[in-house]
Amino acid sequence: MSSVIPWASPLAQYRAHQAPIQSAIDRVLNSGTYILGAEVEAFESAFAEYCGGGHGVGVGSGTDALILALKALGIGPGDEVITVSHTAVATVAAILVVGATPVLVDVDEVYLTLDPAALDRAATSRSKAVIAVHLYGQAADLDPILRFARERKLALIEDCAQACGGCYRGSRLGSIGDVGCFSFYPTKNLGAIGDGGIVLAHEPKIAERLRRLRQFGWDDGRQTREPGLNSRLDPLQAAILRAKLPHLDEDNARRGSIARRYERGLRGLPLATPKERADVQHVYHLYVVASAQRDVLMAYLAEHQIGCAIHYPVPVHRQRGYAERVNVPSGGLPVTELACQQILSLPLYPELSDADVDSVIASIRGFFTR
Ligand SMILES: Cc1ncc(COP(=O)(O)O)c(C=O)c1O
Repeated sequence: MSSVIPWASPLAQYRAHQAPIQSAIDRVLNSGTYILGAEVEAFESAFAEYCGGGHGVGVGSGTDALILALKALGIGPGDEVITVSHTAVATVAAILVVGATPVLVDVDEVYLTLDPAALDRAATSRSKAVIAVHLYGQAADLDPILRFARERKLALIEDCAQACGGCYRGSRLGSIGDVGCFSFYPTKNLGAIGDGGIVLAHEPKIAERLRRLRQFGWDDGRQTREPGLNSRLDPLQAAILRAKLPHLDEDNARRGSIARRYERGLRGLPLATPKERADVQHVYHLYVVASAQRDVLMAYLAEHQIGCAIHYPVPVHRQRGYAERVNVPSGGLPVTELACQQILSLPLYPELSDADVDSVIASIRGFFTR
């Protein structure tokens, strides 16, 4: 029996980088420093430099990165934060955790990222920030979003969890808004061996506040200036991430070449393949196609040992824990709702072989010519 082709494979990533990961782990174990310290600082600097500047503050996860960013920007109860429903629940959860109200807008039909045309109608006197989610590895349309945020004096937070290493008009994602929030969840483009995240801030004052907030609000004398969390990037993860960072661009290039292979192989089928925005670097965290026959196609591929996933099957505003806690426009979010019924994430990770990509393509072709 042939083995399953998974949609993501953190194990293949580990094996591809096994020697430097093992030596990074040994170094931390023998350092005697197991909370923050030199390893975390070295990774924070390396990551900020990779992103083209700013201050990196390593935290416990991508969700915590968003929570801490909101707190550091002074957002809390009574405030509204505009973002999308077509995202990981983490984006919206973070807004609720700080006590603010999520105001969810629709995405555009082509790229499925925040539709800038929806922003004006969503804004109120309580709006304090916009979270632009760079979905599936591709930038949201930041120029009009940034213009809107600046005109209204709102903060712009980039949710870069899915787009580490991507660019928008020549700038690295995470370096354009007031802060950029990243996740190092193991399947992400830069994945840890566990949880991890980082906030990239332009303003030294925001970075300073983030450093306090990630550990109880402590100042240098370990006195609490304001209540905070315990959410520090683990030095083991920092060392592993620093070992993997030099390979991120080549991994992202491999993701791009798999995407192009899919694009060529799937041409002509009644299946929408991802579209790339002009002047962005898409880093293909996910390769998401759309089909009116999504559920049958997914079942067929599973029978043929191909693992797919759906990002995301139920939009956040339709989920029980969120429906009553978020604001959506009176006409609903029709693009989001339709997308959630049709999208399918095909296998894509840097170690996926061309032969496996071709098997996925052949199975999809087989489905449409049954
Ligand atoms: C868009 C988006 N935002 C935030 C997160 C949260 O990251 P983490 O899982 O590291 O908390 C994720 C990860 O799933 C994500 O995809």
